[in-house]
Amino acid sequence: MPDTIRFERERGLLTLRLNRPEKKNALTCAMYSQLAEGLRLADSDPDINAVLITGGAECFTAGNDIFDFLQQPPNNLDSPVFHFMLNLLECRKPVIAAVAGAAVGIGTTMLLHCDLVYVSTDARLRMPFVNLGLCPEFGSSLILPRLLGQAKAAELLLLGEGFSGEQAAAWGIATEALGSGEAALAKGREMALRFDELPPEAVRISKQLMKAPDREQLRKVIEEEGALFTQRLRSPEAMTALSGFLNRH
Ligand code: COA
Repeated sequence: MPDTIRFERERGLLTLRLNRPEKKNALTCAMYSQLAEGLRLADSDPDINAVLITGGAECFTAGNDIFDFLQQPPNNLDSPVFHFMLNLLECRKPVIAAVAGAAVGIGTTMLLHCDLVYVSTDARLRMPFVNLGLCPEFGSSLILPRLLGQAKAAELLLLGEGFSGEQAAAWGIATEALGSGEAALAKGREMALRFDELPPEAVRISKQLMKAPDREQLRKVIEEEGALFTQRLRSPEAMTALSGFLNRH
Protein backbone atom coordinates (compact mmCIF):
# COMPACT_ATOMS: atom_id res chain seq x y z
CA MET A 1 0.00 0.00 0.00
CA PRO A 2 1.43 3.45 -0.88
CA ASP A 3 2.82 5.48 1.95
CA THR A 4 0.24 8.32 1.81
CA ILE A 5 1.31 9.78 5.17
CA ARG A 6 5.04 9.67 5.80
CA PHE A 7 6.33 9.74 9.36
CA GLU A 8 9.80 11.33 9.52
CA ARG A 9 11.84 11.73 12.69
CA GLU A 10 14.58 14.35 13.10
CA ARG A 11 15.84 14.86 16.63
CA GLY A 12 12.73 15.77 18.72
CA LEU A 13 10.61 16.56 15.65
CA LEU A 14 8.01 14.28 14.12
CA THR A 15 7.02 15.36 10.60
CA LEU A 16 3.73 14.07 9.20
CA ARG A 17 4.07 14.49 5.45
CA LEU A 18 0.97 14.23 3.27
CA ASN A 19 2.10 12.17 0.29
CA ARG A 20 -0.57 11.66 -2.33
CA PRO A 21 0.63 14.15 -4.94
CA GLU A 22 -1.31 12.63 -7.85
CA LYS A 23 -4.54 13.58 -6.03
CA LYS A 24 -3.24 16.88 -4.65
CA ASN A 25 -2.92 15.25 -1.21
CA ALA A 26 -6.71 14.86 -0.93
CA LEU A 27 -7.32 13.19 2.43
CA THR A 28 -8.88 9.73 2.65
CA CYS A 29 -10.18 7.95 5.75
CA ALA A 30 -6.96 5.89 5.82
CA MET A 31 -4.88 9.09 5.79
CA TYR A 32 -6.91 10.65 8.62
CA SER A 33 -6.33 7.49 10.67
CA GLN A 34 -2.58 7.70 10.09
CA LEU A 35 -2.53 11.40 10.98
CA ALA A 36 -4.51 10.66 14.14
CA GLU A 37 -2.00 7.93 14.99
CA GLY A 38 0.94 10.30 14.40
CA LEU A 39 -0.50 12.88 16.77
CA ARG A 40 -1.23 10.22 19.39
CA LEU A 41 2.37 9.01 19.07
CA ALA A 42 3.74 12.55 19.43
CA ASP A 43 1.61 13.19 22.47
CA SER A 44 2.77 10.06 24.29
CA ASP A 45 6.45 9.86 23.25
CA PRO A 46 8.62 11.89 25.66
CA ASP A 47 11.34 12.18 22.99
CA ILE A 48 9.06 14.11 20.62
CA ASN A 49 8.95 17.85 21.29
CA ALA A 50 6.97 19.08 18.27
CA VAL A 51 4.99 17.91 15.23
CA LEU A 52 5.24 19.40 11.74
CA ILE A 53 2.40 18.82 9.27
CA THR A 54 3.23 19.52 5.62
CA GLY A 55 2.25 18.48 2.13
CA GLY A 56 5.54 19.48 0.49
CA ALA A 57 6.47 22.53 -1.59
CA GLU A 58 3.75 22.12 -4.27
CA CYS A 59 0.45 21.45 -2.53
CA PHE A 60 -0.70 21.24 1.08
CA THR A 61 -3.98 19.41 0.51
CA ALA A 62 -7.07 19.58 -1.71
CA GLY A 63 -9.10 18.76 1.40
CA ASN A 64 -11.26 15.75 2.03
CA ASP A 65 -11.20 13.21 -0.80
CA ILE A 66 -14.51 13.87 -2.53
CA PHE A 67 -14.86 10.26 -3.64
CA ASP A 68 -14.53 9.25 0.03
CA PHE A 69 -17.17 11.83 0.97
CA LEU A 70 -19.58 9.97 -1.29
CA GLN A 71 -18.40 6.41 -0.56
CA GLN A 72 -17.72 6.49 3.18
CA PRO A 73 -18.99 9.78 4.61
CA PRO A 74 -18.21 10.37 8.28
CA ASN A 75 -21.28 9.30 10.28
CA ASN A 76 -20.44 10.38 13.78
CA LEU A 77 -17.70 11.50 16.14
CA ASP A 78 -16.11 8.03 15.86
CA SER A 79 -15.00 8.64 12.24
CA PRO A 80 -11.29 8.91 11.26
CA VAL A 81 -11.57 12.61 10.43
CA PHE A 82 -12.93 13.35 13.92
CA HIS A 83 -10.19 11.25 15.52
CA PHE A 84 -7.59 13.26 13.63
CA MET A 85 -9.07 16.66 14.43
CA LEU A 86 -9.78 15.83 18.07
CA ASN A 87 -6.21 14.57 18.49
CA LEU A 88 -5.03 17.82 16.91
CA LEU A 89 -7.13 19.82 19.36
CA GLU A 90 -5.93 17.75 22.31
CA CYS A 91 -2.25 17.45 21.35
CA ARG A 92 -0.13 18.74 24.23
CA LYS A 93 2.96 19.23 22.05
CA PRO A 94 3.26 22.18 19.65
CA VAL A 95 1.92 21.47 16.17
CA ILE A 96 3.39 23.46 13.30
CA ALA A 97 2.02 23.57 9.74
CA ALA A 98 4.08 24.40 6.64
CA VAL A 99 1.78 25.22 3.74
CA ALA A 100 2.42 25.75 0.03
CA GLY A 101 0.02 25.64 -2.93
CA ALA A 102 -3.60 24.70 -2.32
CA ALA A 103 -5.02 24.28 1.18
CA VAL A 104 -8.71 23.58 0.61
CA GLY A 105 -11.50 22.72 3.05
CA ILE A 106 -10.07 20.87 6.02
CA GLY A 107 -6.65 21.92 4.66
CA THR A 108 -7.52 25.41 5.85
CA THR A 109 -9.66 24.42 8.85
CA MET A 110 -6.86 22.39 10.44
CA LEU A 111 -4.58 25.46 10.39
CA LEU A 112 -6.91 27.18 12.87
CA HIS A 113 -5.87 24.55 15.43
CA CYS A 114 -2.12 24.50 14.78
CA ASP A 115 0.17 26.53 17.03
CA LEU A 116 2.40 27.99 14.31
CA VAL A 117 1.55 28.21 10.62
CA TYR A 118 4.07 29.09 7.88
CA VAL A 119 2.67 29.63 4.38
CA SER A 120 4.03 30.63 1.02
CA THR A 121 2.77 34.08 -0.02
CA ASP A 122 1.07 32.54 -3.08
CA ALA A 123 -0.54 29.63 -1.19
CA ARG A 124 -4.23 29.32 -2.11
CA LEU A 125 -6.52 28.78 0.86
CA ARG A 126 -10.25 28.21 0.61
CA MET A 127 -13.19 26.80 2.57
CA PRO A 128 -15.81 26.00 -0.09
CA PHE A 129 -18.18 24.22 2.28
CA VAL A 130 -21.34 26.11 1.34
CA ASN A 131 -20.42 25.83 -2.34
CA LEU A 132 -20.43 22.04 -1.87
CA GLY A 133 -23.79 22.07 -0.05
CA LEU A 134 -22.02 21.60 3.30
CA CYS A 135 -21.40 23.84 6.31
CA PRO A 136 -18.36 24.97 8.34
CA GLU A 137 -16.54 22.36 10.44
CA PHE A 138 -14.26 21.92 13.42
CA GLY A 139 -14.83 25.26 15.07
CA SER A 140 -14.33 27.49 12.03
CA SER A 141 -17.79 29.05 12.50
CA LEU A 142 -16.62 30.21 15.94
CA ILE A 143 -12.96 31.00 15.34
CA LEU A 144 -13.11 32.92 12.04
CA PRO A 145 -15.77 35.51 13.00
CA ARG A 146 -13.80 36.13 16.21
CA LEU A 147 -10.53 36.49 14.36
CA LEU A 148 -11.69 38.45 11.29
CA GLY A 149 -15.04 39.98 12.29
CA GLN A 150 -18.37 38.77 10.98
CA ALA A 151 -18.20 40.66 7.69
CA LYS A 152 -14.88 39.23 6.49
CA ALA A 153 -15.57 35.75 7.89
CA ALA A 154 -18.86 35.67 5.93
CA GLU A 155 -16.95 36.22 2.70
CA LEU A 156 -14.75 33.21 3.44
CA LEU A 157 -17.36 30.88 4.95
CA LEU A 158 -20.62 31.81 3.20
CA LEU A 159 -19.28 32.72 -0.24
CA GLY A 160 -16.32 30.35 -0.07
CA GLU A 161 -13.94 33.03 -1.32
CA GLY A 162 -10.34 31.95 -1.68
CA PHE A 163 -7.43 33.89 -0.22
CA SER A 164 -3.66 33.92 -0.45
CA GLY A 165 -0.96 32.96 2.02
CA GLU A 166 -0.10 36.63 2.24
CA GLN A 167 -3.68 37.46 3.29
CA ALA A 168 -3.73 34.55 5.75
CA ALA A 169 -0.68 36.02 7.50
CA ALA A 170 -2.11 39.56 7.46
CA TRP A 171 -5.35 38.29 9.06
CA GLY A 172 -3.66 36.20 11.75
CA ILE A 173 -4.64 32.81 10.29
CA ALA A 174 -0.94 32.18 9.56
CA THR A 175 2.12 33.15 11.57
CA GLU A 176 4.17 34.31 8.57
CA ALA A 177 4.09 34.23 4.77
CA LEU A 178 7.32 33.42 2.95
CA GLY A 179 8.36 33.96 -0.66
CA SER A 180 8.19 30.34 -1.86
CA GLY A 181 6.94 26.90 -0.92
CA GLU A 182 10.49 25.79 -0.13
CA ALA A 183 10.97 28.82 2.14
CA ALA A 184 7.72 28.08 4.01
CA LEU A 185 8.79 24.46 4.54
CA ALA A 186 12.28 25.44 5.67
CA LYS A 187 10.88 27.99 8.12
CA GLY A 188 8.35 25.51 9.48
CA ARG A 189 11.09 22.95 10.09
CA GLU A 190 13.45 25.52 11.62
CA MET A 191 10.83 26.82 14.05
CA ALA A 192 9.60 23.31 14.92
CA LEU A 193 13.18 22.25 15.79
CA ARG A 194 13.43 25.25 18.14
CA PHE A 195 11.27 23.30 20.59
CA ASP A 196 14.23 20.95 21.11
CA GLU A 197 15.97 23.85 22.85
CA LEU A 198 13.06 24.73 25.15
CA PRO A 199 12.01 23.09 28.44
CA PRO A 200 9.19 20.73 27.32
CA GLU A 201 7.12 20.93 30.48
CA ALA A 202 7.04 24.75 30.33
CA VAL A 203 6.01 24.55 26.67
CA ARG A 204 3.25 22.04 27.51
CA ILE A 205 1.82 24.10 30.34
CA SER A 206 1.96 27.31 28.31
CA LYS A 207 0.15 25.74 25.36
CA GLN A 208 -2.49 24.36 27.72
CA LEU A 209 -3.03 27.82 29.22
CA MET A 210 -3.41 29.37 25.77
CA LYS A 211 -6.01 26.80 24.71
CA ALA A 212 -7.94 26.41 27.99
CA PRO A 213 -10.26 29.46 27.90
CA ASP A 214 -11.97 28.38 24.65
CA ARG A 215 -11.80 24.61 25.06
CA GLU A 216 -15.34 23.90 26.30
CA GLN A 217 -17.08 26.26 23.90
CA LEU A 218 -15.02 24.96 21.01
CA ARG A 219 -15.93 21.35 21.79
CA LYS A 220 -19.63 22.23 21.89
CA VAL A 221 -19.46 24.11 18.58
CA ILE A 222 -17.49 21.27 16.95
CA GLU A 223 -20.18 18.78 17.99
CA GLU A 224 -22.95 21.00 16.59
CA GLU A 225 -21.07 21.61 13.36
CA GLY A 226 -20.22 17.89 13.07
CA ALA A 227 -23.85 16.80 13.45
CA LEU A 228 -24.98 19.28 10.78
CA PHE A 229 -22.04 18.51 8.48
CA THR A 230 -22.74 14.77 8.48
CA GLN A 231 -26.45 15.49 7.79
CA ARG A 232 -25.54 17.89 4.99
CA LEU A 233 -23.31 15.27 3.34
CA ARG A 234 -26.46 13.26 2.60
CA SER A 235 -28.45 16.26 1.35
CA PRO A 236 -29.45 16.59 -2.32
CA GLU A 237 -27.51 19.89 -2.44
CA ALA A 238 -24.28 18.17 -1.42
CA MET A 239 -24.87 15.10 -3.61
CA THR A 240 -25.26 17.34 -6.66
CA ALA A 241 -22.17 19.45 -5.89
CA LEU A 242 -19.88 16.53 -4.98
CA SER A 243 -20.94 14.40 -7.97
CA GLY A 244 -20.43 17.51 -10.12
CA PHE A 245 -16.75 17.62 -9.08
CA LEU A 246 -16.23 13.95 -9.86
CA ASN A 247 -17.97 14.20 -13.24
CA ARG A 248 -16.25 17.39 -14.35
CA HIS A 249 -13.81 15.68 -16.74
N1 COA B 1 -10.93 14.70 -3.78
C1 COA B 1 -10.62 13.75 -4.70
N2 COA B 1 -9.82 13.97 -5.73
C2 COA B 1 -9.29 15.20 -5.85
C3 COA B 1 -9.56 16.23 -4.94
C4 COA B 1 -10.43 15.93 -3.87
N3 COA B 1 -10.72 16.83 -2.93
N4 COA B 1 -8.90 17.34 -5.33
C5 COA B 1 -8.22 17.02 -6.44
N5 COA B 1 -8.46 15.73 -6.76
C6 COA B 1 -7.92 14.97 -7.89
C7 COA B 1 -8.53 15.39 -9.21
O1 COA B 1 -9.76 14.73 -9.43
C8 COA B 1 -7.45 15.00 -10.18
O2 COA B 1 -7.51 13.60 -10.35
P1 COA B 1 -7.33 12.94 -11.84
O3 COA B 1 -5.96 13.40 -12.29
O4 COA B 1 -7.42 11.48 -11.59
O5 COA B 1 -8.43 13.52 -12.67
C9 COA B 1 -6.17 15.28 -9.40
O6 COA B 1 -6.52 15.28 -8.03
C10 COA B 1 -5.54 16.62 -9.74
O7 COA B 1 -6.53 17.63 -9.51
P2 COA B 1 -6.76 18.88 -10.48
O8 COA B 1 -8.08 19.49 -10.14
O9 COA B 1 -6.55 18.45 -11.90
O10 COA B 1 -5.54 19.84 -10.03
P3 COA B 1 -5.47 21.43 -10.13
O11 COA B 1 -4.06 21.77 -9.82
O12 COA B 1 -6.06 21.91 -11.40
O13 COA B 1 -6.41 21.98 -8.95
C11 COA B 1 -7.31 22.04 -6.71
C12 COA B 1 -6.10 21.70 -7.59
C13 COA B 1 -6.98 21.58 -5.29
C14 COA B 1 -7.54 23.56 -6.73
C15 COA B 1 -8.56 21.34 -7.27
O14 COA B 1 -8.23 19.97 -7.48
C16 COA B 1 -9.77 21.39 -6.37
O15 COA B 1 -10.43 22.40 -6.28
N6 COA B 1 -10.07 20.24 -5.71
C17 COA B 1 -11.27 20.09 -4.91
C18 COA B 1 -11.13 20.79 -3.61
C19 COA B 1 -12.34 20.58 -2.76
O16 COA B 1 -13.44 21.01 -3.08
N7 COA B 1 -12.14 19.88 -1.64
C20 COA B 1 -13.15 19.52 -0.71
C21 COA B 1 -13.34 20.61 0.29
S1 COA B 1 -14.57 20.19 1.50
